[in-house]
Amino acid sequence: MINSSTYKYLNAQETPFYYYDMDLLKTSLATIKEEAARYNYHIHYAIKANANPKILSLIQAYGFGADCVSGNEIKRSIDNKFPSNQIVYAGVGKSDKEIEMALEANIFCFNCESIPEIEVINEIAKSKNKVAKIALRINPNVNANTHHYITTGIAENKFGINPWEFDQILELLTELDNIQLVGLHFHIGSQIVDLSVFKSLCLRINEIQNWFLEHQIIVDHINVGGGFGINYHKPDEEPIPDFRNYFAIFNEFLNLKAKQQVHFELGRSIVGQCGSLISRVLYVKNGINTNFAILDAGMTELLRPALYQAFHKIENLSSTDEHENYDVVGPICESSDCFGKAVSLPKTKRNDLIAIRSAGAYGEVMASNYNLRQTAKSFFSDDIQI
Ligand code: LLP
Repeated sequence: MINSSTYKYLNAQETPFYYYDMDLLKTSLATIKEEAARYNYHIHYAIKANANPKILSLIQAYGFGADCVSGNEIKRSIDNKFPSNQIVYAGVGKSDKEIEMALEANIFCFNCESIPEIEVINEIAKSKNKVAKIALRINPNVNANTHHYITTGIAENKFGINPWEFDQILELLTELDNIQLVGLHFHIGSQIVDLSVFKSLCLRINEIQNWFLEHQIIVDHINVGGGFGINYHKPDEEPIPDFRNYFAIFNEFLNLKAKQQVHFELGRSIVGQCGSLISRVLYVKNGINTNFAILDAGMTELLRPALYQAFHKIENLSSTDEHENYDVVGPICESSDCFGKAVSLPKTKRNDLIAIRSAGAYGEVMASNYNLRQTAKSFFSDDIQI
């Protein structure tokens, strides 16, 4: 929610830009920390969701680790003071150079996605006289019931190791001296709002654990990944997802052995609701069937609507007039450069300030310079001097 003094400040800035409500982020972080502490759960923030240094340094101050998918994400995490022994590193295509730097940084664990990857990590670790700690990223074949582009845990996806490879992996691990198996890792998709999906994941993890137990293997930790969704339709009513219920599901359904730790990799649920993309109306144009509100922000600043037909709530911060319907579009030379069709907004005119809400996750990080657009700036509520 943007109050009138914040509006005045934002309206004086050159648009488009990202605006982050740092109080909301702090409250979210405090909530997660408290709810996770009930069960001694370990949280790694998935920095792919938002790697803005100011956001990162606030998150690390709450004691969370980092979940990275590239060498540069590892570097960015360390630069922003995430302890390297709390960094997990996933990804189906880790390059030799990235593996080397992760080994040199002594990260907590590699989440390995294939047999050839484990062999390469072993070789590189051997050349450095190190032992790499790994978790097996297992494809549990659980459907996340989310957009097919962000489903990752069903058999046809490229992610993870499939159960029919387990025998071969155990044999291999006895031969590889520079690999230590410390965990099992799962991540089935993103923007999961149906909590029963996480119950199914737990039950499947229990089955998989049983297989490993039958083979005399008890790993130190189970990493259940991320994926907890946010309410894009009601950002003000539900600014913080229900972490209490979320963690309670894992506590209820996950069977742990001995002193096994549970790790999470949360991205969107931490940062999604604290960010808005702020833009200005350039033109209102009458089409044949509809009015277009043409913004100075487009798919170059926020790709999600164009890429996934994702819904983001759109608000006109400058008008309280009667509502009309608008197709809200950007200036980019692509028909998919559309933030919403037939969006009901107060009567909209040139220069009105528009907020596209719930853009804190996978917004700024997925921006591009297509059409040679300038990278949008970011502003933070705690920097605003009113
Ligand atoms: N762990 C792994 C291994 C992942 O691949 C991801 C996200 C996460 C954790 C964090 O998931 P989260 O808690 O944020 O759902 N660009 C898409 C989302 C892609 C998610 C990729 N993986 C979007 O804008 O919806």
